[in-house]
Amino acid sequence: KSLKKYNTFGIDVVAAEFAAITSESELDTVLLKNNKNPLFILSGGSNMLLTKNLDMLVLHIAIKGIIVIEESDKYVSVSVNAGENWHDFVQYCIKNNYGGLENLSLIPGYVGSAPIQNIGAYGVELKDTMISCEAININTRKKHTFSNKDCKFGYRNSIFKNDVKGEYIITKVTFKLTKKEHTLNTSYGAIENALADKGITHPTIKDISEAVIAIRKSKLPDPSQIGNSGSFFKNPVVDGKHFASLQKTYPDIPFYKIDEEHIKIPAGWLIEQSGFKGKRWGDAGVHEKQALVLVNYNNASGNEILDVSKRILTEIKEKFDILLETEVNII
Ligand code: EPU
Repeated sequence: KSLKKYNTFGIDVVAAEFAAITSESELDTVLLKNNKNPLFILSGGSNMLLTKNLDMLVLHIAIKGIIVIEESDKYVSVSVNAGENWHDFVQYCIKNNYGGLENLSLIPGYVGSAPIQNIGAYGVELKDTMISCEAININTRKKHTFSNKDCKFGYRNSIFKNDVKGEYIITKVTFKLTKKEHTLNTSYGAIENALADKGITHPTIKDISEAVIAIRKSKLPDPSQIGNSGSFFKNPVVDGKHFASLQKTYPDIPFYKIDEEHIKIPAGWLIEQSGFKGKRWGDAGVHEKQALVLVNYNNASGNEILDVSKRILTEIKEKFDILLETEVNII
């Protein structure tokens, strides 16, 4: 079966076997039958670059459902099954006036993979509102609940990318959201500007969601139009000494100070400075409005995209002495 429709990069590779899973009991049956043979978990396919055919069983996790499990005057706990589309879930929250996820509007992918890389945007990360997630151990088929703390969340990172990598299938994620007196995060410059342009001084969560949607649409390619997986690299962190020497050569270098010794630099800026923005090799290229996003214009192979990423890696290492880390999983 072709996986082109199941990954947002739109890479045409083939899975030897494919099963769409719509319930936990179905998942259990399939795992039992598969008998610990290698398998590949495919959720929204929005953070991966497929470079080869998958000679194994591919499980597409499509378990749907959203339920409120607890409610008080001010808070609500909502459990969401892994196969729900992330943005649809955020829109459900906006509609019900549940606050906390509005800054994470329009992120592609499914709910089940959101904890793996602790999705984040515009000053908010999943870890800020996630209470826990449930996951099935692929080998024992037992269910395990991971608390927020258990997940060891970091910048685009969690336990699911480290200690227990490849061992679990996340089936459900639970969030604690606000019903009133929402904690709004409008600190990100582009959000402030978008609200000011509309003359909004007391934004609602809906206003913020709409601002985020407008910003993302203006910069990031829509995967249904142009294949991509969002930011291809992580923003690198350098030490104070390294940063001082960079700043000497590039006085306008943008940065976020993490602490006295750690400074984060936008990889998109480094890539643009190196002349890659909008460049194209065949059907593989660098997005014209956001250099951190690699794109598949139509029929690029995974390896063609990977080649573009390698050109970038080499050039950034040479020019800035920075080794970029990929954010997208290369398969
Ligand atoms: N910049 C450039 N040229 C570019 C792109 C960016 O010079 O082509 C510079 C600009 O100075 C800009 C700065 O980089 O002010 C930051 O750019 P932007 O606000 O677009 O954010 P980013 O650092 O490139 C990160 C996340 C995004 C997230 C945005 C907003 C990572 C790897 N990426 O991008 O997440 O939406 O911030 O919070 O941390 C994703 O993970 O897939 C993703 C899209």
